[in-house]
Amino acid sequence: MRLPGKSALITGAAQGIGRGFAEAYAREGAQVAIADINLAAAEATAAEIGEAAYAVQLDVSRQDSIDAAIAAVVAQTGKLDILINNAALFDAAETVDITRASFDRLYAVNVAGTLFTMQAAARRMIQQGHGGKIINMASQAGRRGEPLVLVYCSTKAAVISMTQSAGLNLIRHGINVNAIAPGVVDGAHWKHVDEMFAKLEGKAPGQKKAEVEAGVPAGRFATPDDLTGMAVFLASDQANYIVSQCYNVDGGQWMS
Ligand SMILES: NC(=O)c1ccc[n+]([C@@H]2O[C@H](COP(=O)([O-])OP(=O)(O)OC[C@H]3O[C@@H](n4cnc5c(N)ncnc54)[C@H](O)[C@@H]3O)[C@@H](O)[C@H]2O)c1
Repeated sequence: MRLPGKSALITGAAQGIGRGFAEAYAREGAQVAIADINLAAAEATAAEIGEAAYAVQLDVSRQDSIDAAIAAVVAQTGKLDILINNAALFDAAETVDITRASFDRLYAVNVAGTLFTMQAAARRMIQQGHGGKIINMASQAGRRGEPLVLVYCSTKAAVISMTQSAGLNLIRHGINVNAIAPGVVDGAHWKHVDEMFAKLEGKAPGQKKAEVEAGVPAGRFATPDDLTGMAVFLASDQANYIVSQCYNVDGGQWMS
């Protein structure tokens, strides 16, 4: 086991990639808070993972909710060692059709949510005095723009930038801040993306997904499990000297 006795908080862990991370962390010996805006789904996921997991209500766009979630983790396990900032929203539109409501919604969750959950976790880790690990979920979308995805791409570029600054600032406390940039990962998120592109580009259902898959050098979408090796490594003591980095786990789509 690579995370024995560690206390981890994973945002947006009721489904998808976050759930995959939670399952992997439980297998590696951590206690895992399945923190999600959808409490019923978080409870169901925690029950399926077993006694290493428990559900926590969390809306990362609200400071009171972030503070309450950190307090719930400390009440449950006595500490916080690892945070994965995984919760995020997606939207797509022509540049001329982007609304302020969409911009505000995505920035509240993907950018402010990531920043202030990271801040609350770092405050607790500094108080504990033995460092910690923070992993932010970026995306290949944060590496370059896409014609219909201006807002989401820019939020993920912000995640990469915040990871760099926070990592440089927090390493003196022994807190390693790093990021993972996935390519395309199968699940509910991509069903939603495919539906949006079907409308925006006049494609048949499933067509966009098939086109994207054909462009992945590894020849297929990732599964959440394809990302867990990096997430476990970055949370482990083996990553103590890794600071402010963003790792592509994308089947060869991006090189940097
Ligand atoms: N799926 C992909 O292809 C892909 C690619 C690159 C990056 N990512 C990133 O990986 C992460 C996970 O993606 P996914 O595909 O598993 O997403 P998903 O949409 O399947 O799951 C997101 C989870 O976040 C929760 N959530 C939404 N708003 C929240 C809020 N305000 N507070 C707390 N929880 C909230 C949802 O209830 C859901 O359980 C995201 O940061 C996403 O941007 C995904």
